Amino acid sequence: MSDQANNNEKTFTLTNDETGESCKLPIKTGTHGPSVIDIRKLYAETGHFTFDPSFTATGSCKSRLTFIDGEEGILLHRGYSIEDLAGKSTFLEVAHALLYGDLPNKAEKEDFEKDIRYHTMVNEQVHYFFRGFRRDAHPMSIMCGVVAALSAFYHDSLDIWEPEQRELSAHRLIAKIPTLAAMTYKYSIGQPFMYPRNDLSFSENFLYMCFGVPAEPYVMSPVLADAMDKIFILHADHEQNASTSTVRLAGSSQANPFACVAAGIACLWGPSHGGANQAVLEMLAEIGTKDRIPEFLARAKDKEDPFRLMGFGHRVYKNMDPRAGVLKKAAHDVLEDLGVKDDPLLEMAMELERIALEDPYFVERKLFPNVDFYSGIILKAMGFPTSMFTVLFAVARTVGWISQWKEMMEEPSIKIGRPRQLYTGEPSRPYVPLAKRK
Ligand code: SDX
Repeated sequence: MSDQANNNEKTFTLTNDETGESCKLPIKTGTHGPSVIDIRKLYAETGHFTFDPSFTATGSCKSRLTFIDGEEGILLHRGYSIEDLAGKSTFLEVAHALLYGDLPNKAEKEDFEKDIRYHTMVNEQVHYFFRGFRRDAHPMSIMCGVVAALSAFYHDSLDIWEPEQRELSAHRLIAKIPTLAAMTYKYSIGQPFMYPRNDLSFSENFLYMCFGVPAEPYVMSPVLADAMDKIFILHADHEQNASTSTVRLAGSSQANPFACVAAGIACLWGPSHGGANQAVLEMLAEIGTKDRIPEFLARAKDKEDPFRLMGFGHRVYKNMDPRAGVLKKAAHDVLEDLGVKDDPLLEMAMELERIALEDPYFVERKLFPNVDFYSGIILKAMGFPTSMFTVLFAVARTVGWISQWKEMMEEPSIKIGRPRQLYTGEPSRPYVPLAKRK
């Protein structure tokens, strides 16, 4: 077997115990986190694939955007902790950091905010897409459709090989998806769409487009606008999660960025992923009273019961999701600002967290509250229906998706993602004509 790694690289040797054959594979080390074994030449050298169906131990790419230490409950964006960013930055500052590599200076911040504000309106024709949906359509079904349709309106920024066009598409998506999200909400309640206002911040404008009406001035709550911005920051990016991996895989086929983000929205919708925030509220409502918590914890532990404790557990975090900690505090602040005393949902969620974190099943499996456990309580208190929760997640994650897509498109070479498989089907067999089939 030829040595795959050059002489001064660290290597990992795989040996076939049956044949004694071995294969020396390069080990690559990043800034933080586990090193990786580069297996790109494994099949050519050994005739074997690796097997990792849900990618529990597989790195799909190199990335400089986000680092997660699941054991320690650490989340960094471009090296900055999520606690610092959520406490000291705005969502558009974090978006700038994810897109361009660092937090903006004063001039860069003003320019970026102006660029995004410039693109907040959507083509008037887009309004007609909404008319085709029933008013009770799930907002995520509308988002899947209208975001993919955006590519029909922006032929001047679909050349994915032109950096200026990639940047223009990124700005358009970051700016227009909040407008479309607000339109899905307005459409569901039969109110007129509100046009974006460029005198407002990103999060103020979003709240205005959702809760403002043409008939009277909208009174902005600084606390709610701050909470909205914080929620967007906490949901902006999260390494190679399912929806981001979907966006990257779609992008690897050279699909346009609008189609890639629409694919990410479809993946995020699942209750195991971004749909969990809606499922948490539905679960809390189903539990109803604190005395029924033990009954539902028993169901969550029962392998025969498909019920899972929504908002708990994570593929990577085996400690408290740092975002959940920030959201738990924000929930108290928002409810207090709204004059909501002893919110029953928050009381229930906190009791559920307390009991679960004392239960050996959850402790042994390191199942802690994740980002979705408390977000829904805040969003409900802010006036959003549960059906809009995952849409709000998508508004924020669009920044991560398009930043990850941009990072991939800036790689020196892009190969289409194409996993292999372990075939366990029928062996090759002769064709059976219809007359002879049993
Ligand atoms: C998000 O990847 C990301 O980064 C996602 C995200 C992001 O920002 O992009 O963080 C956003 O999607 C957060 C997760 C939201 N989903 C939920 O809250 C749904 C409830 N959670 C579970 O479905 C589950 O925890 C997952 C899907 C999140 C993780 O699934 P895994 O990786 O398959 O879980 P695991 O292998 O770590 O589970 C270990 C054990 C298993 O039991 P055993 O086979 O060992 O007996 O824990 C059990 C699981 O059955 N388990 C749960 C559980 N989560 C895991 N049991 C009950 N309730 C749960 N919530």
